[in-house]
Amino acid sequence: MRKHAIFITGASGEVGHALIHHLAADSDNRLLTLDLKALPPDIASLATHVQGDMLDTNLLARLVSEYEIDTIYHLAALLSTRAEFSPEMAHQVNVEGMLTLLKLAAEQSQWRNRPIQFVFPSSIAIYGMPDPESKALYNRVREFEWNQPRTMYGCNKIYGEMLGNYYSKHFRQLAAEAPVHIDFRCVRFPGLISAFTLPSGGTSDYGPEMLHAAAKGEPYACFVREDARIPFMTMPDAVRSLLLLSHAPAEKLTRRVYNVTSFSLSAGEIRDRVLAAFPDAQITFAPDLKRQAIVDSWPADLDDSAARRDWGWSPQHDVDAAFDDYLIPNIRERYRRKEETQ
Ligand code: SER
Repeated sequence: MRKHAIFITGASGEVGHALIHHLAADSDNRLLTLDLKALPPDIASLATHVQGDMLDTNLLARLVSEYEIDTIYHLAALLSTRAEFSPEMAHQVNVEGMLTLLKLAAEQSQWRNRPIQFVFPSSIAIYGMPDPESKALYNRVREFEWNQPRTMYGCNKIYGEMLGNYYSKHFRQLAAEAPVHIDFRCVRFPGLISAFTLPSGGTSDYGPEMLHAAAKGEPYACFVREDARIPFMTMPDAVRSLLLLSHAPAEKLTRRVYNVTSFSLSAGEIRDRVLAAFPDAQITFAPDLKRQAIVDSWPADLDDSAARRDWGWSPQHDVDAAFDDYLIPNIRERYRRKEETQ
Protein backbone atom coordinates (compact mmCIF):
# COMPACT_ATOMS: atom_id res chain seq x y z
CA MET A 1 0.00 0.00 0.00
CA ARG A 2 1.27 3.46 -0.85
CA LYS A 3 1.36 5.94 1.99
CA HIS A 4 -0.76 9.10 1.97
CA ALA A 5 1.27 12.29 2.22
CA ILE A 6 1.27 16.06 2.07
CA PHE A 7 4.03 17.01 -0.36
CA ILE A 8 6.02 20.22 0.21
CA THR A 9 8.55 21.57 -2.29
CA GLY A 10 11.09 24.22 -1.30
CA ALA A 11 10.72 22.79 2.19
CA SER A 12 14.06 24.08 3.49
CA GLY A 13 13.19 27.70 2.73
CA GLU A 14 11.68 30.21 5.14
CA VAL A 15 8.00 29.48 4.53
CA GLY A 16 8.65 25.73 4.44
CA HIS A 17 10.41 25.89 7.77
CA ALA A 18 7.43 27.53 9.47
CA LEU A 19 4.79 25.50 7.62
CA ILE A 20 6.39 22.17 8.54
CA HIS A 21 6.34 23.11 12.22
CA HIS A 22 2.60 23.72 12.00
CA LEU A 23 1.62 20.75 9.86
CA ALA A 24 3.74 18.35 11.91
CA ALA A 25 1.86 19.34 15.07
CA ASP A 26 -1.05 17.23 13.77
CA SER A 27 0.10 13.63 14.07
CA ASP A 28 -2.34 12.59 11.31
CA ASN A 29 -0.24 14.49 8.77
CA ARG A 30 2.53 12.58 7.02
CA LEU A 31 4.89 15.09 5.42
CA LEU A 32 6.99 14.33 2.36
CA THR A 33 9.39 17.17 1.62
CA LEU A 34 11.67 18.03 -1.27
CA ASP A 35 14.42 20.60 -1.55
CA LEU A 36 17.88 20.96 -3.09
CA LYS A 37 19.13 21.46 0.46
CA ALA A 38 18.82 19.33 3.58
CA LEU A 39 16.08 20.29 6.04
CA PRO A 40 17.30 22.58 8.84
CA PRO A 41 18.19 20.42 11.91
CA ASP A 42 15.28 21.64 14.05
CA ILE A 43 12.68 20.27 11.61
CA ALA A 44 14.65 17.34 10.18
CA SER A 45 12.76 14.77 12.26
CA LEU A 46 9.31 16.12 11.33
CA ALA A 47 9.19 14.97 7.69
CA THR A 48 10.46 12.37 5.26
CA HIS A 49 12.86 14.55 3.34
CA VAL A 50 14.20 13.97 -0.14
CA GLN A 51 17.16 16.09 -1.14
CA GLY A 52 16.90 16.61 -4.87
CA ASP A 53 15.64 18.62 -7.82
CA MET A 54 11.90 18.95 -8.46
CA LEU A 55 12.70 19.03 -12.19
CA ASP A 56 14.15 15.51 -11.93
CA THR A 57 11.23 13.51 -13.34
CA ASN A 58 12.80 10.16 -12.37
CA LEU A 59 12.96 11.30 -8.79
CA LEU A 60 9.31 12.43 -8.86
CA ALA A 61 8.26 9.13 -10.46
CA ARG A 62 9.95 7.26 -7.63
CA LEU A 63 8.15 9.41 -5.06
CA VAL A 64 4.70 8.85 -6.54
CA SER A 65 5.36 5.12 -6.71
CA GLU A 66 5.76 5.19 -2.93
CA TYR A 67 3.28 7.88 -1.88
CA GLU A 68 -0.29 8.91 -2.58
CA ILE A 69 -0.02 12.67 -2.62
CA ASP A 70 -3.25 14.32 -1.43
CA THR A 71 -2.08 17.91 -1.03
CA ILE A 72 0.83 19.82 -2.53
CA TYR A 73 2.35 22.97 -1.07
CA HIS A 74 4.54 24.16 -3.92
CA LEU A 75 6.89 26.63 -2.22
CA ALA A 76 10.09 26.24 -4.23
CA ALA A 77 11.11 29.44 -6.04
CA LEU A 78 13.96 31.77 -6.86
CA LEU A 79 13.06 35.15 -5.30
CA SER A 80 12.98 38.50 -7.05
CA THR A 81 16.51 39.86 -6.69
CA ARG A 82 18.17 36.53 -7.38
CA ALA A 83 15.92 35.94 -10.38
CA GLU A 84 17.13 39.19 -12.00
CA PHE A 85 20.68 37.84 -12.03
CA SER A 86 19.66 34.52 -13.63
CA PRO A 87 16.33 35.10 -15.40
CA GLU A 88 16.44 31.91 -17.48
CA MET A 89 17.23 29.82 -14.45
CA ALA A 90 14.39 31.60 -12.61
CA HIS A 91 12.05 30.68 -15.45
CA GLN A 92 13.18 27.09 -15.19
CA VAL A 93 12.69 26.86 -11.44
CA ASN A 94 9.61 29.07 -11.12
CA VAL A 95 7.72 28.13 -14.29
CA GLU A 96 9.00 24.70 -15.37
CA GLY A 97 8.88 23.68 -11.72
CA MET A 98 5.26 24.80 -11.44
CA LEU A 99 4.30 22.94 -14.60
CA THR A 100 6.05 19.77 -13.42
CA LEU A 101 4.20 19.84 -10.12
CA LEU A 102 0.84 20.58 -11.75
CA LYS A 103 1.42 17.61 -14.05
CA LEU A 104 2.17 15.44 -11.05
CA ALA A 105 -1.04 16.65 -9.39
CA ALA A 106 -3.02 15.93 -12.55
CA GLU A 107 -1.66 12.38 -12.76
CA GLN A 108 -2.40 11.74 -9.09
CA SER A 109 -5.93 12.96 -9.59
CA GLN A 110 -6.48 10.87 -12.68
CA TRP A 111 -5.09 7.61 -11.29
CA ARG A 112 -6.99 7.90 -8.06
CA ASN A 113 -10.06 9.64 -9.41
CA ARG A 114 -10.09 12.20 -6.66
CA PRO A 115 -9.26 15.91 -6.27
CA ILE A 116 -5.73 16.93 -5.34
CA GLN A 117 -5.30 20.18 -3.50
CA PHE A 118 -2.52 22.44 -4.81
CA VAL A 119 -1.54 25.38 -2.57
CA PHE A 120 0.72 28.02 -4.09
CA PRO A 121 2.24 31.18 -2.59
CA SER A 122 2.35 34.03 -5.07
CA SER A 123 3.64 37.49 -4.35
CA ILE A 124 3.24 41.24 -4.28
CA ALA A 125 5.82 41.10 -7.11
CA ILE A 126 3.04 40.31 -9.60
CA TYR A 127 2.01 43.98 -9.34
CA GLY A 128 3.76 46.74 -11.25
CA MET A 129 3.05 50.37 -10.44
CA PRO A 130 4.33 52.43 -13.36
CA ASP A 131 5.32 55.58 -11.43
CA PRO A 132 5.31 57.10 -7.90
CA GLU A 133 2.12 59.07 -8.60
CA SER A 134 0.16 55.88 -9.35
CA LYS A 135 1.65 54.20 -6.28
CA ALA A 136 0.52 57.11 -4.11
CA LEU A 137 -2.92 57.31 -5.71
CA TYR A 138 -3.75 53.57 -5.86
CA ASN A 139 -2.69 52.79 -2.35
CA ARG A 140 -4.34 49.43 -1.67
CA VAL A 141 -4.50 47.37 -4.82
CA ARG A 142 -7.06 44.69 -5.51
CA GLU A 143 -6.23 41.32 -7.10
CA PHE A 144 -7.10 42.29 -10.65
CA GLU A 145 -5.39 45.71 -10.69
CA TRP A 146 -1.90 46.65 -11.93
CA ASN A 147 -0.94 43.12 -12.97
CA GLN A 148 2.14 44.33 -14.86
CA PRO A 149 5.18 42.90 -13.09
CA ARG A 150 8.57 44.49 -13.56
CA THR A 151 10.64 41.47 -12.46
CA MET A 152 11.21 38.01 -13.87
CA TYR A 153 10.03 36.63 -10.54
CA GLY A 154 6.79 38.62 -10.80
CA CYS A 155 6.23 37.39 -14.36
CA ASN A 156 6.91 33.82 -13.27
CA LYS A 157 4.53 34.05 -10.32
CA ILE A 158 1.63 35.54 -12.26
CA TYR A 159 2.04 32.90 -14.95
CA GLY A 160 2.17 30.27 -12.19
CA GLU A 161 -1.17 31.59 -10.93
CA MET A 162 -2.58 31.38 -14.43
CA LEU A 163 -1.31 27.84 -14.91
CA GLY A 164 -2.87 26.80 -11.60
CA ASN A 165 -6.15 28.36 -12.62
CA TYR A 166 -6.00 26.70 -16.04
CA TYR A 167 -5.19 23.25 -14.64
CA SER A 168 -8.02 23.51 -12.14
CA LYS A 169 -10.66 24.78 -14.58
CA HIS A 170 -9.81 24.06 -18.22
CA PHE A 171 -7.08 21.43 -18.47
CA ARG A 172 -8.00 18.84 -21.14
CA GLN A 173 -11.16 20.79 -21.96
CA LEU A 174 -11.35 19.19 -25.40
CA ALA A 175 -10.21 15.67 -24.44
CA ALA A 176 -12.48 12.64 -24.28
CA GLU A 177 -11.02 11.28 -21.00
CA ALA A 178 -12.53 12.09 -17.64
CA PRO A 179 -11.43 15.49 -16.37
CA VAL A 180 -8.79 15.78 -13.65
CA HIS A 181 -9.61 17.60 -10.43
CA ILE A 182 -7.01 20.01 -9.14
CA ASP A 183 -8.18 22.23 -6.33
CA PHE A 184 -5.79 25.15 -6.87
CA ARG A 185 -5.62 27.78 -4.13
CA CYS A 186 -3.20 30.69 -4.03
CA VAL A 187 -2.29 33.61 -1.76
CA ARG A 188 -0.30 36.65 -2.79
CA PHE A 189 2.08 37.48 0.04
CA PRO A 190 3.47 40.90 0.93
CA GLY A 191 7.04 41.01 2.33
CA LEU A 192 7.38 38.38 5.06
CA ILE A 193 9.29 38.78 8.33
CA SER A 194 10.28 35.86 10.52
CA ALA A 195 11.89 36.01 13.93
CA PHE A 196 13.63 32.70 13.35
CA THR A 197 14.89 32.67 9.76
CA LEU A 198 16.24 35.13 7.21
CA PRO A 199 15.23 35.28 3.56
CA SER A 200 17.76 35.12 0.76
CA GLY A 201 17.53 36.64 -2.68
CA GLY A 202 14.37 38.72 -2.18
CA THR A 203 13.88 42.45 -2.60
CA SER A 204 11.77 42.92 0.54
CA ASP A 205 14.68 41.46 2.54
CA TYR A 206 15.70 44.87 3.95
CA GLY A 207 12.87 44.61 6.54
CA PRO A 208 14.01 41.36 8.17
CA GLU A 209 17.72 42.12 7.57
CA MET A 210 17.50 45.44 9.44
CA LEU A 211 15.86 43.81 12.43
CA HIS A 212 18.15 40.79 12.66
CA ALA A 213 21.29 42.93 12.19
CA ALA A 214 20.21 45.21 15.05
CA ALA A 215 19.59 42.24 17.35
CA LYS A 216 23.04 40.87 16.52
CA GLY A 217 24.64 44.27 17.18
CA GLU A 218 25.80 44.56 13.55
CA PRO A 219 25.57 47.77 11.49
CA TYR A 220 23.09 47.70 8.61
CA ALA A 221 23.01 49.79 5.43
CA CYS A 222 19.47 49.61 4.07
CA PHE A 223 19.35 49.21 0.28
CA VAL A 224 16.16 51.27 -0.20
CA ARG A 225 15.22 54.87 0.64
CA GLU A 226 13.65 55.75 3.98
CA ASP A 227 10.33 56.54 2.29
CA ALA A 228 10.13 53.20 0.37
CA ARG A 229 6.83 51.64 1.41
CA ILE A 230 5.39 48.17 0.91
CA PRO A 231 3.18 45.90 3.00
CA PHE A 232 4.54 43.19 5.29
CA MET A 233 3.30 40.42 7.51
CA THR A 234 4.79 37.98 9.99
CA MET A 235 5.74 34.45 9.08
CA PRO A 236 3.20 32.88 11.50
CA ASP A 237 0.47 34.89 9.76
CA ALA A 238 1.77 33.79 6.36
CA VAL A 239 1.50 30.16 7.40
CA ARG A 240 -1.92 30.75 8.96
CA SER A 241 -3.14 32.18 5.67
CA LEU A 242 -1.96 29.11 3.74
CA LEU A 243 -3.65 26.75 6.21
CA LEU A 244 -6.87 28.78 6.46
CA LEU A 245 -7.19 28.92 2.69
CA SER A 246 -6.39 25.22 2.38
CA HIS A 247 -9.17 24.36 4.87
CA ALA A 248 -11.77 26.82 3.55
CA PRO A 249 -14.95 25.18 2.15
CA ALA A 250 -14.76 25.24 -1.66
CA GLU A 251 -18.23 26.78 -1.98
CA LYS A 252 -17.06 29.87 -0.06
CA LEU A 253 -14.30 30.68 -2.53
CA THR A 254 -15.15 33.26 -5.17
CA ARG A 255 -11.65 33.26 -6.64
CA ARG A 256 -8.56 31.08 -6.70
CA VAL A 257 -6.00 33.82 -5.99
CA TYR A 258 -6.27 36.07 -2.92
CA ASN A 259 -4.25 38.97 -1.54
CA VAL A 260 -3.33 38.62 2.13
CA THR A 261 -1.51 41.19 4.22
CA SER A 262 -1.16 42.86 7.60
CA PHE A 263 0.60 46.25 7.82
CA SER A 264 2.21 48.75 5.47
CA LEU A 265 5.44 50.42 6.64
CA SER A 266 8.11 52.58 5.07
CA ALA A 267 11.73 51.52 5.55
CA GLY A 268 12.13 54.57 7.82
CA GLU A 269 9.22 53.44 9.99
CA ILE A 270 10.77 49.97 10.28
CA ARG A 271 14.04 51.65 11.34
CA ASP A 272 12.16 53.63 14.02
CA ARG A 273 10.57 50.48 15.44
CA VAL A 274 13.90 48.67 15.41
CA LEU A 275 15.60 51.60 17.16
CA ALA A 276 12.89 51.68 19.81
CA ALA A 277 13.79 48.08 20.70
CA PHE A 278 17.54 48.27 20.05
CA PRO A 279 18.57 51.89 20.75
CA ASP A 280 22.22 51.22 19.83
CA ALA A 281 21.39 49.84 16.38
CA GLN A 282 23.46 51.43 13.60
CA ILE A 283 21.10 51.74 10.65
CA THR A 284 21.97 53.84 7.63
CA PHE A 285 20.37 54.21 4.21
CA ALA A 286 22.43 53.49 1.09
CA PRO A 287 19.84 52.95 -1.64
CA ASP A 288 20.70 50.60 -4.46
CA LEU A 289 18.83 52.38 -7.24
CA LYS A 290 18.05 49.19 -9.13
CA ARG A 291 16.60 47.29 -6.20
CA GLN A 292 14.87 50.50 -5.13
CA ALA A 293 13.14 50.65 -8.51
CA ILE A 294 11.71 47.17 -7.93
CA VAL A 295 10.32 48.16 -4.53
CA ASP A 296 8.93 51.36 -6.06
CA SER A 297 7.00 49.21 -8.55
CA TRP A 298 5.31 47.26 -5.75
CA PRO A 299 2.13 48.74 -4.25
CA ALA A 300 2.19 50.53 -0.90
CA ASP A 301 -0.52 48.19 0.39
CA LEU A 302 -2.73 45.27 -0.64
CA ASP A 303 -6.51 45.07 -0.43
CA ASP A 304 -7.20 41.69 1.17
CA SER A 305 -10.95 42.19 1.66
CA ALA A 306 -11.83 39.23 -0.60
CA ALA A 307 -9.87 36.84 1.65
CA ARG A 308 -11.46 38.40 4.73
CA ARG A 309 -14.94 38.00 3.31
CA ASP A 310 -14.62 34.54 1.72
CA TRP A 311 -12.58 32.56 4.24
CA GLY A 312 -12.40 34.69 7.36
CA TRP A 313 -8.80 35.84 6.88
CA SER A 314 -7.39 38.35 9.31
CA PRO A 315 -3.81 38.55 10.54
CA GLN A 316 -3.15 37.75 14.20
CA HIS A 317 -0.27 40.24 14.26
CA ASP A 318 -1.09 43.85 13.47
CA VAL A 319 1.96 46.11 13.37
CA ASP A 320 2.23 46.51 17.16
CA ALA A 321 1.69 42.84 17.90
CA ALA A 322 4.12 41.90 15.12
CA PHE A 323 6.99 43.88 16.65
CA ASP A 324 6.13 43.85 20.36
CA ASP A 325 4.76 40.32 20.82
CA TYR A 326 6.40 38.27 18.08
CA LEU A 327 9.47 39.78 16.39
CA ILE A 328 11.38 41.64 19.09
CA PRO A 329 11.07 39.13 21.97
CA ASN A 330 11.81 36.10 19.79
CA ILE A 331 14.72 37.73 17.97
CA ARG A 332 16.24 38.89 21.25
CA GLU A 333 15.94 35.39 22.65
CA ARG A 334 17.35 33.84 19.50
CA TYR A 335 20.58 35.86 19.51
CA ARG A 336 20.93 35.72 23.30
CA ARG A 337 20.90 31.94 23.07
CA LYS A 338 23.35 31.97 20.21
CA GLU A 339 25.73 34.13 22.25
CA GLU A 340 25.42 31.76 25.20
CA THR A 341 26.30 28.73 23.09
CA GLN A 342 29.36 30.41 21.53
N1 SER B 1 9.74 38.62 -0.69
C1 SER B 1 9.73 38.43 -2.11
C2 SER B 1 10.89 39.02 -2.76
O1 SER B 1 11.36 40.01 -2.26
C3 SER B 1 8.49 39.06 -2.69
O2 SER B 1 7.53 38.09 -2.78
O3 SER B 1 11.29 38.55 -3.78
